[in-house]
Amino acid sequence: MNWVQLKAKVAGCTDCKLRAGCGQTVFGVGDEKARWLLVGEAPGAEEDRVGEPFVGQAGRLLDHMLAAVELARGRNVYIANVLKCRPPGNRNPEPDEVAKCAPHLRRQIELIQPKIILAMGRFAAQTLLGSDATIASLRGKVHRYMDVPLIVTYHPAYLLRNLPDKSKSWADLLLAKKVAAEC
Ligand code: URA
Repeated sequence: MNWVQLKAKVAGCTDCKLRAGCGQTVFGVGDEKARWLLVGEAPGAEEDRVGEPFVGQAGRLLDHMLAAVELARGRNVYIANVLKCRPPGNRNPEPDEVAKCAPHLRRQIELIQPKIILAMGRFAAQTLLGSDATIASLRGKVHRYMDVPLIVTYHPAYLLRNLPDKSKSWADLLLAKKVAAEC
């Protein structure tokens, strides 16, 4: 599938039960040839309304974090989620939903061919790495997904509730920046 076909597939997808309960699909946003790919969990209420990932409060924090490492949404950065549809009430994604939707993200990654992937939060990290390890144990290492270096960090929504961990996220971003510069 090329970009046009993949976008059409996601827009018309009814492979799992989420589409029936969400407002719209949220495909992803940014530079389709970006060096950086950021992966979150699933659209929340704001994202469902606007049709773009990370536009709510967590998204504003993400934009500030990107700016701190001289990056910006859409400028050499692509942002996507594991799930393209909002789970009702922002509940956690269920395994069958992840299994059905993850191939869309996989194809996005094949098309973008990023130099670095930042997996934000447990669902993104566990889905991409096929692991059930904790964020704490996955952080600070360079993993690989389809041969692309992958760094695990906290989800911005978690950081909003746990401000002291922002310094760890900062360290993760610096590690990602260093690895991206080496590619
Ligand atoms: N949380 C996510 O994981 N993704 C979004 O797009 C918004 C909030």
